[in-house]
This record gives sequence, structure tokens and C-alpha cells, in this order.
Amino acid sequence: MEKRIAVISGDGIGPEVIEETLRVLEHATMNSGLTLNYTHYLAGGCAIDSKGRPLPEETLRGAQESDAVLLGAVGGFKWDTLPSDMRPENALLDLRAGLGLFANVRPAVLYNELASACPLKPSLTENGLDIIVIRELTGGLYFGKKERGEDWAYDTMRYSEPEVRRIAQVAMKTAMGRKKQVVSVDKANILESSRLWRSVVNEVAKEYPDITLSHMYVDNAAMQLVRYPKQFDVIVTENMFGDILSDEAAMITGSIGMLPSASLGSSKLGMYEPVHGSAPDIAGQGIANPLATILSAAMMLRHSLDRDDIAKSIEKAVSLALESGARTKDIALANEKSVSTTEMANTVIGFLEA
Ligand code: IPM
Ligand code: MG
Repeated sequence: MEKRIAVISGDGIGPEVIEETLRVLEHATMNSGLTLNYTHYLAGGCAIDSKGRPLPEETLRGAQESDAVLLGAVGGFKWDTLPSDMRPENALLDLRAGLGLFANVRPAVLYNELASACPLKPSLTENGLDIIVIRELTGGLYFGKKERGEDWAYDTMRYSEPEVRRIAQVAMKTAMGRKKQVVSVDKANILESSRLWRSVVNEVAKEYPDITLSHMYVDNAAMQLVRYPKQFDVIVTENMFGDILSDEAAMITGSIGMLPSASLGSSKLGMYEPVHGSAPDIAGQGIANPLATILSAAMMLRHSLDRDDIAKSIEKAVSLALESGARTKDIALANEKSVSTTEMANTVIGFLEA
């Protein structure tokens, strides 16, 4: 079987973590019957520099015509002062909208080996943590009408029933394969869009009688995540709340360099990228943690390429690499020796072949 992968390395540490991930994929798919054909495209700051815009047309078209998109990271200090429609981040927003990727799946997993990186009291995370934040990705404040006047500005949070229904369905289906527990986060005491959200989520939940659904206001959810994170399994929420809560969930694992993400739509085509950004401060030094991108590639194999078997073998190899003590700088303790980006990927490859 052959699959077309659009590879967008992007800026900062993006190219470094993508290069290592492609090496891992090469080993992981060897003799698997799956051949991955890569086409590289520009997006973000590098695209602004060479094509004059964050998301060149050929990149969007290439992504639309592929089976999956693997992305490193976009952005950097260099482009921070550009006008808002020219910022590298727009490449991400336009890819999400242009590919119809309305569901952002962000697992926040605390690996036992990295438990000491968690900033919470150990008693709160005993036996690890495993939360999935499902964030609506193409609606709400990010895409609603916005305007700027002389001395005023507004953004609008608008949701339609079908938009809420389809993301609620992703949450329910995800929960069916896990603990059958969903917390829907909104601000229904204040926001009209949240009242719609809550009533549609309740409706969808009726189709899933095995699922325990509860609702939480976003301010309380932010507090509960650090007070007692183990109460959560699947969290579903609108775009902006999900942006904030997924960063919080990432932080309580203590290792944002470890966390993958998948952006999914109504077809098999998905976009896979690490949760961390382009980290321009450490770019080019060969010290970035490639594991979030490697784990994103595993999600790509699972969700877009129907190869759960290869996904699992990569995830297993990552766990074994951590167990063996391999640590990039971001996850090493002060007194621990750290490995380079390439050495970390090599360790993973070693366990793939073992
Ligand atoms: C994320 C990022 C993006 C977002 C930015 C870079 C546009 O924070 O993927 O969480 O806000 O969605
Ligand atoms: Mg964010």
C-alpha cells in the first residue's frame, strides 16, 4: 500500500524534529507493506521569506491531495512584528480551515519515567496521568467575525448546532474506546454559544447511553485540572477554551516536548504535529526533543493510514527509550546526562528493531 504524506517542516526546531521522525518512520514501516511517499512543502515563516505568504497555494493544495500532513512547527521571533494577516501562525489556521480539520485531539500523558517532571504533588499523579483534550478547531473566536476600529475591537464566538454535534461525536467515540467518561467544558452561565453547546452535547450523549457525561465551567475546569487531574479522561471543549486547557494539561505532564496532536476532519485526512512550538531559542543546536513529533507520526499511522500496528510499535519503542534512560535536555533532571535529537531518535530506532 502506498500513501502520500505532505511534510511541512516549518521553522525553528521543526526541520530537526521532522528529519528524525522521517528516519524513525523509515525503520518502522520497513517490511510492513506500507510505503510512504513524502512531498515537502513550505508553510510559516520560511514560506513568508521565500513565497511572500505564510501558506502558499501549492502547500494547501498539496496537503488537500495527500493522505496525511505531518507538520513540525511554524513561527519565530523574526516574523513576530509582521501585520496580523502575515503572521506564520496563519498558516496553521488556514490549513485547519482549508482541510476541514474541526477536531483537535491532544493526549496529555504523564509517563512513569518522567513523573518527577510533573509540577504537581506526586500524590496527585500516582500511577501516571492519561487525559485527552478534544478541542473544536475551526469555529469560535478564532474564526468568528472580528473587527478593529480606531479605539475598539471585537471577536465573536459563534457556533452552529452541526459544528457542536460533530465535535461532540468525536468526543463520545473517543471515550467509548477509553473510560467512557466525558467532561464537556463551557461557560454556559454567561455565554449564549455555551448554552447551545451544552444542549447539543446533551443531545448527542443520548446516542451513547454507556457514557457518563458531565459539564464543567471553564474556570472551574482550569482549577480542577491542577487540583485533581485524575478526575478527567476525555475533555471536549470549544476552540479558545481548548487552546488554553490543552496547554494546561500539557504542563501538568511536565514535558510539553513529549506531546503529540492530531487534527481530524470528516475524512481520513488528518494533520499531525507536536504540541510544542518552533522554539527558535534552541533551533539549530540539535538538542530538541523529537519524541512529540515521533508520537504524532504514530497518531498519523493510526488515524489516517489505518496502521494501528505500526503506531503501537512506535509508541512502545518510545516508552522503551525513556525506560532505558534516554533524555533530551528538556526532560533531563539537572544532574542527568542528556542526549541529542539524533541520539534520541536512534534510541527509538534501536528499540523498533529489537
Ligand atoms: C495551538 C497554537 C495555535 C492556536 C497558534 C499558534 C495559532 O497555540 O495549536 O495551540 O492557538 O491554535
Ligand atoms: Mg495553543
